[in-house]
Amino acid sequence: MSNPWYKNAVFYEVYVKGFHDHNNDGKGDFKGLTSKLDYIANLGIDCIWLLPMYPSPGKDDGYDIMNYYEIHKDYGTLDDFKHFLDESHKRGIRVIADLVLNHISDQHPWFIEAVNNVYSKYHNYFVWSHNPEKYKEARIIFVDTEISNWTWSDKAKKYYWHRFFYHQPDLNYENPDVQEEMIKVLDYWLGLGLDGFRVDAVPYLFEQEGTSCENLPQTHEYLKKIRKFVDNKYPDCLLLAEANQWPEDLLPYFGDGDEFHMAFNFPLMPRMFMALRQEHHGPIIDIIQRIPAIPENCQWAIFLRNHDELTLEMVTDEERDYMYKQYAKDEQMKINVGIRRRLAPLLENSRNQIELLNTILLCLPGAPVIYYGDELGMGDNIYLGDRNGVRTPMHWNVDRNAGFSKCNPSKLYAPVITDPEYDYHTINVENQENNIHSLLNWTKHMLKQRRKFSVFGSGTLRFIYPENKRILAFFRENDNERLLCVFNLSHLHQPVELYISEYKGFKPVEIIGEESFPYIGELPYLLTLSPHSFFIFELVQ
Ligand code: NOJ
Repeated sequence: MSNPWYKNAVFYEVYVKGFHDHNNDGKGDFKGLTSKLDYIANLGIDCIWLLPMYPSPGKDDGYDIMNYYEIHKDYGTLDDFKHFLDESHKRGIRVIADLVLNHISDQHPWFIEAVNNVYSKYHNYFVWSHNPEKYKEARIIFVDTEISNWTWSDKAKKYYWHRFFYHQPDLNYENPDVQEEMIKVLDYWLGLGLDGFRVDAVPYLFEQEGTSCENLPQTHEYLKKIRKFVDNKYPDCLLLAEANQWPEDLLPYFGDGDEFHMAFNFPLMPRMFMALRQEHHGPIIDIIQRIPAIPENCQWAIFLRNHDELTLEMVTDEERDYMYKQYAKDEQMKINVGIRRRLAPLLENSRNQIELLNTILLCLPGAPVIYYGDELGMGDNIYLGDRNGVRTPMHWNVDRNAGFSKCNPSKLYAPVITDPEYDYHTINVENQENNIHSLLNWTKHMLKQRRKFSVFGSGTLRFIYPENKRILAFFRENDNERLLCVFNLSHLHQPVELYISEYKGFKPVEIIGEESFPYIGELPYLLTLSPHSFFIFELVQ
């Protein structure tokens, strides 16, 4: 594939439980989601990413899977899922789903058998030890709740290994049966017509003494095996890696274009927030320069927020302190190594800043991922525990339960947002559809304008270094299109001189309103930008 579909796609991350409740039991379901597909299509989305939809005790919101071949009964039936898939495809929307390879639920029959019968073949599906000091160089990820990566099994009389919650035993990828089992899972869902997977927690598949048990060569070898399988049988499908790692360790997940098609750009994400508060282009430029080029057929998934905390693992200690100081003024906002807030509250509900960060995201190299509700500027609820405060029901209108469900409000899986600033009576789809100036309509327009240029998905990025460091400026270029993107990271008006005479004789046309600006000449190009504003120009010959 010379220009694969995912290179220029816009993704929308959907929490099935939180999107729309068709049967009014208080939890969203596939029928509800299907009924809202026109909304997603009108927004300008190319691909939906579904959070885990499989049967699960829900102790990690579905990332603890009990059965890899079914749909969680709260979300409907397999037929409901297939219907949703068909209806998405009819609208030209692809669908990928979360797939958890690293661990399963302790309620999964494999684990139940493994602890009850140490002679069963399933015992060797997991990682065991009599010594909880083994692999002690592996860090603990959920530092707020776990004190060790080993948990004692009273039944098996040994410790089992887990990188996340104690109830999520890691699978043993040294066992070829496990390797095969998980390829069977992929085969099953892709066979049903799913367009790919967001593959959860990929760095941790294998363990090795004396290492951090992350990013091991064995892990990459197995992931390449998966890719080979997908390429042979489902060549149009996408594998997207969740590997929260530094650039040097992240890059190998693309292999030579023979491992993942895409990976989340974790190092970039916090630095967009940092650049905004520091009012300095440095954090964005520095990290992008540190990230080596990826193979031609690969793409970054770039994002501002998702269903987890805004993770601060890929920053230095000093940067983390800074981020906490700026974005988590209340202790309640912190969780593990991150901040559990949605986009709008993080940016103090400043419309200019929300537009600015979103536009930077839409202009940088990669395929943008929008988290459901952030297109409305939805608020969060930091008092709900774990990361649940950013997973509350979608606000559709002013009806009961924000139009999400007709159930008794006490039955909702989580309360709708009633914080006065973000109350669902104001922040909801219907209101925003009716207001031409709403964030929702702004987002739709931006996605529509972005779609006119292939350069966003496949062009090069070239920074301009204005003397005024409050301005972030770069070119996006390919053979047919040239864009000049200029952002004011400051809360004050800013002048900037851009030395871009290489484009002498070109006319900048601002792509949002399609207004022409003065021709570029020999002298520095002078722009003035109002607080937190930006220009995206097409340079027309
Ligand atoms: C990453 C997921 O995004 C997160 O929600 C989950 O808790 C962990 N992986 C463990 O599966």
